Amino acid sequence: MSRFVVFVVLLVLGGIGWGGCGSDATPAAEKATKSRATKQISQESNQSATENTGGLSEFELKHGIGPIKKKLTLGKIDSKLVGKGKKIFELKCSACHELDSRRVGPPLRDVLGHRTPEFVMNMMLNPDEMIKRHPEVKKLLAEYLTVMTFQNLSVEDARAVLEYLRWAHQQGKK
Ligand code: HEC
Repeated sequence: MSRFVVFVVLLVLGGIGWGGCGSDATPAAEKATKSRATKQISQESNQSATENTGGLSEFELKHGIGPIKKKLTLGKIDSKLVGKGKKIFELKCSACHELDSRRVGPPLRDVLGHRTPEFVMNMMLNPDEMIKRHPEVKKLLAEYLTVMTFQNLSVEDARAVLEYLRWAHQQGKK
């Protein structure tokens, strides 16, 4: 009988143990992601600028990973395209982004002040891979703790949104 009691007590303790493990799982996974990201950053600073980093080419580090693989030629701001981009932005981005304040994601008015147009296009067109592989976007994920999801944009749609962001950036500087 007493053996049975010990058995039950062990079972209950075991159960608590498991429960504890389960609730710890998320922070542990986060820690693992963070330490991987930190490792990658320190590896990058150890490598010379001409070498590929974390499997990314120099182009990808600067301009992002995705369908945009060459520098874009951007002319003067096209107001018709800005209008189209604004509509798409309101439909597909404004749930998470505002121009001037932080929402689910970062404010975007000045994004072109610190990212290249190609980077912004690749982020719109290929957020999954950008989040997984680009060191700058990994840092953003660690800060915003939400994953930006692909909004089913065509390259043309993304180009229009880019025009809207170029316009917004210019307006902000006035
Ligand atoms: C579900 C919410 C969500 C939607 C919808 C969304 N984003 Fe994001 N976006 C984020 C988050 C969160 C980040 C920060 C990176 C991360 O955690 O994934 C981000 C990051 C970005 C960045 C990188 C900013 C930087 O400083 O490098 C750009 C550019 C961007 N988003 C543009 C857009 C555009 C344009 C759209 C619409 C086509 C859009 N996003 C739709 C949540 C979203």
